[in-house]
Amino acid sequence: MRRLLDVLREDCGLTAIKEGCGEGECGACAILIDGRVVDSCILPVGAAQGREIETLESIRETARGRLIVDGLSRGGGVQCGFCTPGIAVTIEALLRENPNPSEYEIRDGISGNLCRCTGYQQIVEGVLYTAAETRERSR
Ligand code: FES
Ligand code: FES
Repeated sequence: MRRLLDVLREDCGLTAIKEGCGEGECGACAILIDGRVVDSCILPVGAAQGREIETLESIRETARGRLIVDGLSRGGGVQCGFCTPGIAVTIEALLRENPNPSEYEIRDGISGNLCRCTGYQQIVEGVLYTAAETRERSR
């Protein structure tokens, strides 16, 4: 019954995952389970048994993951950085489903992730950059 967030951070050393609200509201602890965005602060570890878990640590090792981090960094989408790991995995899920999202679709896709610093515009621009670069490099 331990929280998945605690097991991943404390037992697995996956400290990119952050705890914000601890109540499933802010998205700082977001990870992917079987490709879907989940707030790890409200999930008992047993519920993840036998399922595929992805965090920023694994996603940033991929070509698109590097572009996601690059896109967020280059335009000011990372300021304090506390929201960034959760936003990055959410962007990964979004781009898997929709490689060419509109600005509206990006805003809708990251609506479960709160950011106190950026006002979101820089994050949206970072996602547009990542999406365009990913399409360009896959030609
Ligand atoms: S810390 Fe999990 S949603 Fe806020
Ligand atoms: S960069 Fe500070 S909360 Fe998003």
